[in-house]
Amino acid sequence: MKILSIIGARPQFVKEAIVQYELNKIEGVQEVLVHTGQHYDENMSGSFFKTLNIKEPDYNLGISGSTHGKMTGEMLIRIEELLLREKPDLVLLYGDTNSTLAGALAAAKLKIDVAHVEAGLRQEPKDMPEELNRVLTDRISKYLFVPSEYGMENLRREGITEGVHFTGDVMYDVFLKMKPRFDHAYYKALGLEEDGYLVMTMHRDFNVDDPDILRSILQGIEQIAREIPIVFPIHPRTKKMVEMFGLENYLEQVMVLQPIDYLKLMGLTSHAKGAITDSGGFQKETYFAGKRALVLMPDTSWIELVDHGINQLVDGQNLYESYKSMGAKEFEHGIYGDGTAASKIVKVLTDR
Ligand code: UD1
Repeated sequence: MKILSIIGARPQFVKEAIVQYELNKIEGVQEVLVHTGQHYDENMSGSFFKTLNIKEPDYNLGISGSTHGKMTGEMLIRIEELLLREKPDLVLLYGDTNSTLAGALAAAKLKIDVAHVEAGLRQEPKDMPEELNRVLTDRISKYLFVPSEYGMENLRREGITEGVHFTGDVMYDVFLKMKPRFDHAYYKALGLEEDGYLVMTMHRDFNVDDPDILRSILQGIEQIAREIPIVFPIHPRTKKMVEMFGLENYLEQVMVLQPIDYLKLMGLTSHAKGAITDSGGFQKETYFAGKRALVLMPDTSWIELVDHGINQLVDGQNLYESYKSMGAKEFEHGIYGDGTAASKIVKVLTDR
Protein backbone atom coordinates (compact mmCIF):
# COMPACT_ATOMS: atom_id res chain seq x y z
CA MET A 1 0.00 0.00 0.00
CA LYS A 2 1.35 3.40 -0.95
CA ILE A 3 0.39 6.45 1.13
CA LEU A 4 1.38 9.93 0.05
CA SER A 5 1.48 12.36 3.00
CA ILE A 6 1.46 16.10 2.46
CA ILE A 7 2.80 18.55 5.02
CA GLY A 8 3.92 22.14 4.80
CA ALA A 9 3.53 24.11 8.03
CA ARG A 10 4.90 23.78 11.54
CA PRO A 11 1.97 22.05 13.30
CA GLN A 12 1.80 19.48 10.51
CA PHE A 13 5.36 18.37 11.13
CA VAL A 14 4.40 17.55 14.72
CA LYS A 15 1.37 15.51 13.64
CA GLU A 16 3.23 13.73 10.85
CA ALA A 17 5.96 12.67 13.30
CA ILE A 18 3.69 10.37 15.25
CA VAL A 19 1.64 9.03 12.34
CA GLN A 20 4.85 8.24 10.46
CA TYR A 21 6.19 6.46 13.53
CA GLU A 22 3.08 4.25 13.63
CA LEU A 23 3.05 3.70 9.86
CA ASN A 24 6.63 2.48 9.99
CA LYS A 25 5.54 -0.38 12.23
CA ILE A 26 3.30 -1.84 9.53
CA GLU A 27 4.85 -4.10 6.94
CA GLY A 28 3.96 -3.48 3.32
CA VAL A 29 3.20 0.23 3.73
CA GLN A 30 5.25 2.69 1.71
CA GLU A 31 4.97 6.35 2.66
CA VAL A 32 5.94 9.05 0.17
CA LEU A 33 6.46 12.30 2.08
CA VAL A 34 5.80 15.62 0.36
CA HIS A 35 6.76 18.96 1.94
CA THR A 36 5.10 21.82 0.07
CA GLY A 37 7.69 24.27 1.40
CA GLN A 38 5.05 26.54 2.97
CA HIS A 39 7.25 26.93 6.06
CA TYR A 40 10.92 27.01 5.18
CA ASP A 41 13.01 28.74 7.87
CA GLU A 42 15.27 26.34 9.74
CA ASN A 43 13.45 27.13 13.00
CA MET A 44 9.97 26.82 11.43
CA SER A 45 10.69 23.62 9.50
CA GLY A 46 14.15 21.95 9.50
CA SER A 47 14.51 21.85 13.28
CA PHE A 48 11.23 19.92 13.58
CA PHE A 49 12.44 17.19 11.24
CA LYS A 50 15.55 16.77 13.34
CA THR A 51 14.07 16.89 16.84
CA LEU A 52 11.01 14.78 15.99
CA ASN A 53 12.92 12.22 13.87
CA ILE A 54 10.83 12.76 10.77
CA LYS A 55 12.32 11.30 7.61
CA GLU A 56 13.62 13.66 4.93
CA PRO A 57 10.76 14.54 2.56
CA ASP A 58 10.87 12.64 -0.73
CA TYR A 59 9.82 15.88 -2.41
CA ASN A 60 10.10 19.51 -1.33
CA LEU A 61 8.08 21.78 -3.59
CA GLY A 62 9.51 25.05 -2.26
CA ILE A 63 6.19 26.92 -2.52
CA SER A 64 5.68 29.65 0.09
CA GLY A 65 5.15 33.23 1.00
CA SER A 66 2.82 34.52 -1.74
CA THR A 67 -0.89 35.30 -1.65
CA HIS A 68 -3.16 32.48 -0.55
CA GLY A 69 -4.56 31.92 -4.04
CA LYS A 70 -1.16 31.81 -5.69
CA MET A 71 0.32 29.57 -3.02
CA THR A 72 -2.62 27.15 -3.06
CA GLY A 73 -2.80 27.21 -6.87
CA GLU A 74 0.88 26.44 -7.34
CA MET A 75 0.66 23.63 -4.81
CA LEU A 76 -2.37 22.20 -6.63
CA ILE A 77 -0.48 22.06 -9.92
CA ARG A 78 2.66 20.51 -8.46
CA ILE A 79 0.85 18.01 -6.23
CA GLU A 80 -1.28 16.83 -9.16
CA GLU A 81 1.91 16.13 -11.14
CA LEU A 82 3.31 14.16 -8.21
CA LEU A 83 0.14 12.15 -7.75
CA LEU A 84 0.14 11.20 -11.42
CA ARG A 85 3.73 10.07 -11.10
CA GLU A 86 3.53 8.29 -7.73
CA LYS A 87 0.01 6.83 -8.09
CA PRO A 88 -0.61 6.45 -4.34
CA ASP A 89 -3.56 4.48 -2.96
CA LEU A 90 -4.33 7.27 -0.57
CA VAL A 91 -3.40 10.86 0.27
CA LEU A 92 -2.94 11.68 3.94
CA LEU A 93 -3.47 15.27 5.13
CA TYR A 94 -3.31 17.13 8.41
CA GLY A 95 -5.13 20.11 9.85
CA ASP A 96 -6.16 23.28 8.10
CA THR A 97 -3.37 24.86 6.10
CA ASN A 98 -3.19 25.88 2.47
CA SER A 99 -1.04 22.78 1.91
CA THR A 100 -3.91 20.63 3.22
CA LEU A 101 -6.50 22.16 0.91
CA ALA A 102 -4.25 21.96 -2.14
CA GLY A 103 -3.52 18.27 -1.44
CA ALA A 104 -7.19 17.46 -0.88
CA LEU A 105 -8.30 19.11 -4.11
CA ALA A 106 -5.56 17.58 -6.22
CA ALA A 107 -6.26 14.08 -4.90
CA ALA A 108 -10.06 14.26 -5.03
CA LYS A 109 -10.01 15.45 -8.64
CA LEU A 110 -7.88 12.43 -9.54
CA LYS A 111 -10.31 10.21 -7.60
CA ILE A 112 -7.63 9.26 -5.09
CA ASP A 113 -8.97 8.69 -1.57
CA VAL A 114 -8.27 11.48 0.91
CA ALA A 115 -7.70 10.89 4.62
CA HIS A 116 -7.93 13.96 6.87
CA VAL A 117 -6.32 13.93 10.30
CA GLU A 118 -7.92 16.56 12.58
CA ALA A 119 -11.26 16.58 10.76
CA GLY A 120 -14.48 18.12 12.07
CA LEU A 121 -13.08 21.22 13.75
CA ARG A 122 -14.97 24.45 13.19
CA GLN A 123 -14.73 28.01 14.47
CA GLU A 124 -15.46 31.66 13.87
CA PRO A 125 -14.52 33.73 11.96
CA LYS A 126 -15.88 31.60 9.12
CA ASP A 127 -13.88 33.54 6.55
CA MET A 128 -10.47 32.91 8.08
CA PRO A 129 -8.21 30.91 5.75
CA GLU A 130 -7.87 27.93 8.09
CA GLU A 131 -11.64 27.57 8.43
CA LEU A 132 -12.15 27.61 4.66
CA ASN A 133 -9.40 25.01 4.30
CA ARG A 134 -10.80 22.59 6.86
CA VAL A 135 -14.45 22.84 5.80
CA LEU A 136 -13.58 22.19 2.16
CA THR A 137 -11.14 19.38 2.99
CA ASP A 138 -13.71 17.59 5.17
CA ARG A 139 -16.28 17.70 2.34
CA ILE A 140 -14.02 15.76 -0.01
CA SER A 141 -12.33 13.38 2.41
CA LYS A 142 -13.11 9.69 2.46
CA TYR A 143 -11.62 9.15 5.92
CA LEU A 144 -12.21 11.77 8.60
CA PHE A 145 -10.19 11.31 11.78
CA VAL A 146 -11.73 13.42 14.50
CA PRO A 147 -9.87 14.50 17.65
CA SER A 148 -12.78 15.63 19.85
CA GLU A 149 -16.48 15.11 20.65
CA TYR A 150 -17.12 18.61 19.46
CA GLY A 151 -15.63 17.70 16.07
CA MET A 152 -17.95 14.69 15.86
CA GLU A 153 -20.96 16.90 16.57
CA ASN A 154 -19.94 19.39 13.88
CA LEU A 155 -19.74 16.69 11.24
CA ARG A 156 -23.13 15.23 12.29
CA ARG A 157 -24.66 18.69 12.03
CA GLU A 158 -23.27 19.04 8.51
CA GLY A 159 -24.60 15.61 7.53
CA ILE A 160 -21.13 14.07 7.17
CA THR A 161 -21.42 10.61 8.71
CA GLU A 162 -19.57 8.21 6.44
CA GLY A 163 -15.90 7.47 6.99
CA VAL A 164 -15.88 9.38 10.29
CA HIS A 165 -13.66 7.95 13.04
CA PHE A 166 -13.27 9.32 16.54
CA THR A 167 -9.60 8.86 17.41
CA GLY A 168 -8.53 11.49 19.94
CA ASP A 169 -5.79 13.96 19.17
CA VAL A 170 -2.48 12.97 17.59
CA MET A 171 -0.82 16.00 19.20
CA TYR A 172 -1.48 14.42 22.58
CA ASP A 173 0.24 11.23 21.38
CA VAL A 174 3.28 13.28 20.36
CA PHE A 175 3.29 15.13 23.67
CA LEU A 176 3.36 11.90 25.66
CA LYS A 177 5.96 10.26 23.46
CA MET A 178 8.32 13.24 23.46
CA LYS A 179 7.84 14.27 27.09
CA PRO A 180 11.05 12.61 28.33
CA ARG A 181 13.00 14.64 25.77
CA PHE A 182 11.53 18.09 26.54
CA ASP A 183 14.16 20.73 27.25
CA HIS A 184 13.47 21.26 30.95
CA ALA A 185 16.53 23.44 31.42
CA TYR A 186 15.64 26.05 28.81
CA TYR A 187 13.64 28.32 31.12
CA LYS A 188 16.57 28.50 33.51
CA ALA A 189 18.93 29.33 30.64
CA LEU A 190 16.62 32.27 29.91
CA GLY A 191 16.87 33.39 33.54
CA LEU A 192 13.23 32.54 34.33
CA GLU A 193 11.70 30.98 37.42
CA GLU A 194 9.40 27.99 37.76
CA ASP A 195 5.76 29.15 37.45
CA GLY A 196 7.03 32.70 37.12
CA TYR A 197 6.47 33.55 33.44
CA LEU A 198 4.03 33.26 30.53
CA VAL A 199 4.77 31.81 27.08
CA MET A 200 3.22 33.68 24.18
CA THR A 201 2.71 32.85 20.50
CA MET A 202 0.67 34.82 17.96
CA HIS A 203 0.37 34.66 14.19
CA ARG A 204 -3.30 34.66 13.06
CA ASP A 205 -4.25 37.06 10.31
CA PHE A 206 -7.18 38.48 12.30
CA ASN A 207 -4.78 39.47 15.11
CA VAL A 208 -1.71 40.66 13.28
CA ASP A 209 -2.81 42.09 9.91
CA ASP A 210 -4.79 45.06 11.28
CA PRO A 211 -2.66 47.74 12.99
CA ASP A 212 -5.38 48.79 15.47
CA ILE A 213 -6.12 45.24 16.58
CA LEU A 214 -2.44 44.38 16.82
CA ARG A 215 -1.74 47.56 18.81
CA SER A 216 -4.57 46.83 21.22
CA ILE A 217 -3.24 43.30 21.87
CA LEU A 218 0.32 44.54 22.33
CA GLN A 219 -0.89 47.19 24.78
CA GLY A 220 -2.46 44.42 26.86
CA ILE A 221 0.75 42.42 26.62
CA GLU A 222 2.80 45.41 27.71
CA GLN A 223 0.58 45.82 30.78
CA ILE A 224 0.91 42.14 31.74
CA ALA A 225 4.67 42.17 31.11
CA ARG A 226 5.03 44.78 33.86
CA GLU A 227 3.84 42.10 36.32
CA ILE A 228 5.26 38.86 34.96
CA PRO A 229 7.91 38.03 32.35
CA ILE A 230 6.50 37.05 28.95
CA VAL A 231 8.56 34.90 26.57
CA PHE A 232 7.48 35.39 22.97
CA PRO A 233 9.00 33.23 20.22
CA ILE A 234 7.79 35.41 17.39
CA HIS A 235 6.36 34.03 14.14
CA PRO A 236 7.96 35.58 11.01
CA ARG A 237 4.61 36.91 9.86
CA THR A 238 4.02 38.70 13.19
CA LYS A 239 7.55 40.10 13.24
CA LYS A 240 7.00 41.54 9.80
CA MET A 241 3.71 43.17 10.82
CA VAL A 242 5.03 44.61 14.10
CA GLU A 243 7.87 46.25 12.18
CA MET A 244 5.66 47.42 9.33
CA PHE A 245 3.22 49.13 11.74
CA GLY A 246 6.04 50.49 13.93
CA LEU A 247 4.78 48.81 17.10
CA GLU A 248 8.12 47.49 18.42
CA ASN A 249 8.00 49.79 21.46
CA TYR A 250 5.15 47.73 23.00
CA LEU A 251 7.47 44.73 23.13
CA GLU A 252 10.29 46.40 25.02
CA GLN A 253 9.43 44.59 28.26
CA VAL A 254 8.82 41.28 26.48
CA MET A 255 11.46 38.58 25.93
CA VAL A 256 11.17 38.22 22.15
CA LEU A 257 12.88 35.14 20.67
CA GLN A 258 13.19 33.51 17.27
CA PRO A 259 10.69 30.65 16.83
CA ILE A 260 11.91 27.70 18.90
CA ASP A 261 11.74 23.97 18.28
CA TYR A 262 9.15 21.62 19.73
CA LEU A 263 11.27 20.26 22.57
CA LYS A 264 12.22 23.74 23.78
CA LEU A 265 8.67 25.09 23.52
CA MET A 266 7.23 22.15 25.43
CA GLY A 267 9.98 22.36 28.05
CA LEU A 268 9.37 26.07 28.45
CA THR A 269 5.62 25.58 28.74
CA SER A 270 5.91 22.76 31.26
CA HIS A 271 7.48 25.18 33.77
CA ALA A 272 5.45 28.31 32.93
CA LYS A 273 2.50 29.79 34.79
CA GLY A 274 0.49 29.61 31.57
CA ALA A 275 0.29 30.86 28.00
CA ILE A 276 -1.13 33.53 25.73
CA THR A 277 -1.71 32.26 22.21
CA ASP A 278 -3.79 32.22 19.06
CA SER A 279 -2.34 28.91 17.91
CA GLY A 280 -4.73 25.99 17.60
CA GLY A 281 -2.07 23.49 18.55
CA PHE A 282 -0.41 25.42 21.33
CA GLN A 283 -3.60 26.19 23.26
CA LYS A 284 -3.98 22.43 23.64
CA GLU A 285 -0.32 21.70 24.30
CA THR A 286 -0.51 24.16 27.17
CA TYR A 287 -3.34 22.05 28.55
CA PHE A 288 -1.37 18.82 28.04
CA ALA A 289 1.39 20.44 30.11
CA GLY A 290 -1.16 21.09 32.88
CA LYS A 291 -1.35 24.85 32.34
CA ARG A 292 -3.98 27.37 31.30
CA ALA A 293 -4.05 29.55 28.21
CA LEU A 294 -5.51 32.92 27.33
CA VAL A 295 -6.63 32.32 23.77
CA LEU A 296 -6.49 35.35 21.49
CA MET A 297 -9.44 34.28 19.35
CA PRO A 298 -13.14 35.19 19.06
CA ASP A 299 -13.90 31.44 19.01
CA THR A 300 -11.88 28.25 19.05
CA SER A 301 -12.03 24.84 17.47
CA TRP A 302 -10.93 23.47 20.86
CA ILE A 303 -13.95 24.90 22.65
CA GLU A 304 -14.12 22.10 25.25
CA LEU A 305 -11.13 23.67 27.00
CA VAL A 306 -13.13 26.87 27.37
CA ASP A 307 -16.30 25.01 28.40
CA HIS A 308 -14.33 23.23 31.12
CA GLY A 309 -13.15 26.59 32.46
CA ILE A 310 -9.51 25.86 31.60
CA ASN A 311 -8.80 28.34 28.80
CA GLN A 312 -10.36 31.77 28.21
CA LEU A 313 -11.11 33.49 24.91
CA VAL A 314 -9.64 36.98 25.03
CA ASP A 315 -8.92 40.04 22.92
CA GLY A 316 -6.77 43.13 23.33
CA GLN A 317 -9.48 44.88 25.37
CA ASN A 318 -9.84 42.28 28.11
CA LEU A 319 -6.38 40.67 28.00
CA TYR A 320 -5.07 42.19 31.21
CA GLU A 321 -8.25 41.52 33.24
CA SER A 322 -8.30 37.96 31.92
CA TYR A 323 -4.71 37.47 33.01
CA LYS A 324 -5.62 38.70 36.49
CA SER A 325 -8.46 36.19 36.68
CA MET A 326 -6.48 33.16 35.45
CA GLY A 327 -7.47 30.30 37.75
CA ALA A 328 -5.39 27.87 39.73
CA LYS A 329 -3.86 24.87 38.02
CA GLU A 330 -6.20 22.04 38.95
CA PHE A 331 -8.54 20.94 36.19
CA GLU A 332 -9.83 17.91 34.30
CA HIS A 333 -7.32 15.87 32.30
CA GLY A 334 -7.70 13.43 29.42
CA ILE A 335 -10.10 15.40 27.23
CA TYR A 336 -8.33 14.43 24.01
CA GLY A 337 -8.06 10.69 24.27
CA ASP A 338 -5.47 8.37 25.69
CA GLY A 339 -2.46 8.94 23.45
CA THR A 340 -3.34 6.26 20.90
CA ALA A 341 -4.87 8.42 18.16
CA ALA A 342 -2.12 7.76 15.63
CA SER A 343 -2.25 3.99 16.02
CA LYS A 344 -6.04 4.09 15.61
CA ILE A 345 -5.64 6.10 12.40
CA VAL A 346 -3.04 3.77 10.99
CA LYS A 347 -5.21 0.75 11.82
CA VAL A 348 -8.17 2.16 9.89
CA LEU A 349 -5.97 2.99 6.91
CA THR A 350 -4.19 -0.33 6.76
CA ASP A 351 -7.36 -2.41 7.39
CA ARG A 352 -9.08 -0.94 4.36
C1 UD1 B 1 0.12 28.71 8.57
C2 UD1 B 1 -1.27 28.06 8.53
C3 UD1 B 1 -1.89 28.01 9.92
C4 UD1 B 1 -0.94 27.45 10.96
C5 UD1 B 1 0.40 28.20 10.88
C6 UD1 B 1 1.39 27.67 11.88
C7 UD1 B 1 -2.48 28.53 6.43
C8 UD1 B 1 -3.57 29.29 5.80
N1 UD1 B 1 -2.19 28.83 7.70
O1 UD1 B 1 -0.05 30.09 8.88
O2 UD1 B 1 -3.04 27.21 9.88
O3 UD1 B 1 -1.50 27.61 12.24
O4 UD1 B 1 0.91 28.06 9.56
O5 UD1 B 1 2.50 28.50 11.96
O6 UD1 B 1 -1.91 27.68 5.80
N2 UD1 B 1 7.17 32.78 6.81
C9 UD1 B 1 8.55 32.88 6.85
N3 UD1 B 1 9.26 31.76 7.17
C10 UD1 B 1 8.67 30.56 7.41
C11 UD1 B 1 7.26 30.48 7.38
C12 UD1 B 1 6.52 31.61 7.07
O7 UD1 B 1 9.13 33.93 6.64
O8 UD1 B 1 9.37 29.58 7.66
C13 UD1 B 1 6.40 33.95 6.41
C14 UD1 B 1 5.77 33.68 5.04
O9 UD1 B 1 6.65 34.02 4.02
C15 UD1 B 1 4.57 34.57 5.06
C16 UD1 B 1 4.17 34.54 6.53
O10 UD1 B 1 5.30 34.13 7.27
O11 UD1 B 1 4.87 35.87 4.70
C17 UD1 B 1 2.99 33.66 6.78
O12 UD1 B 1 3.27 32.32 6.43
P1 UD1 B 1 2.09 31.37 5.85
O13 UD1 B 1 2.66 30.03 5.59
O14 UD1 B 1 1.38 32.07 4.77
O15 UD1 B 1 1.00 31.26 6.99
P2 UD1 B 1 1.11 31.16 8.57
O16 UD1 B 1 0.68 32.46 9.12
O17 UD1 B 1 2.41 30.60 9.00
